[in-house]
Amino acid sequence: MNPEFSERVALELLQEKDLAAVMHIEKCCYSFPWSQGVFADCLRSGYDLLGAWDNSRLLGYAVLRQVLDEIHLLNLCVAPHCRGQGVARILLRSLMQGARENGAVVVSLEVRASNVAARALYRSEGFMDIALRPDYYPDARGREDGHIMECHL
Ligand SMILES: CC(C)(COP(=O)(O)OP(=O)(O)OC[C@H]1O[C@@H](n2cnc3c(N)ncnc32)[C@H](O)[C@@H]1OP(=O)(O)O)[C@@H](O)C(=O)NCCC(=O)NCCS
Repeated sequence: MNPEFSERVALELLQEKDLAAVMHIEKCCYSFPWSQGVFADCLRSGYDLLGAWDNSRLLGYAVLRQVLDEIHLLNLCVAPHCRGQGVARILLRSLMQGARENGAVVVSLEVRASNVAARALYRSEGFMDIALRPDYYPDARGREDGHIMECHL
């Protein structure tokens, strides 16, 4: 992690007005991106969208939903040119801290089997593989397995 860069990163809950910046990142990061309508529905349904900013530039975001004492992490994404500098780790640590403060006891997520970077990040923050969902995700050649990961807080 680059300390000078990470000190500049500010975290803030995102709103509808931020969704154009979210979509700019989402579209260049995923083969099957969410639509702006999906993000808007998340906001309307009370999910949290946590954004990482460098001044007025959105670097990345996380989407999470709390149900009772469980948090589900639905999306975590960092703009390609900002990767490898600790932004995802900052987002993940912050949302896990927030989860603890809100009384959550577990965070869960699904991740593509081929997503080496994300799986390494989650493992390094204490997540464990708890189940495999065969052919869970569409991919360019057909389907791809998903790993369900969990971290007890
Ligand atoms: C996965 C992703 C969020 C990581 O973002 P990032 O800001 O580059 O990650 P960080 O710089 O915080 O790195 C944290 C850890 O992730 C792992 N990691 C990150 N990039 C990696 C890579 N290219 N290869 C292997 N491990 C990697 C490492 O364990 C790293 O820790 P280290 O720097 O101490 O080695 C980013 O690559 C991304 O947005 N990918 C596209 C969207 C996506 O797949 N999201 C996950 C959906 S489940």
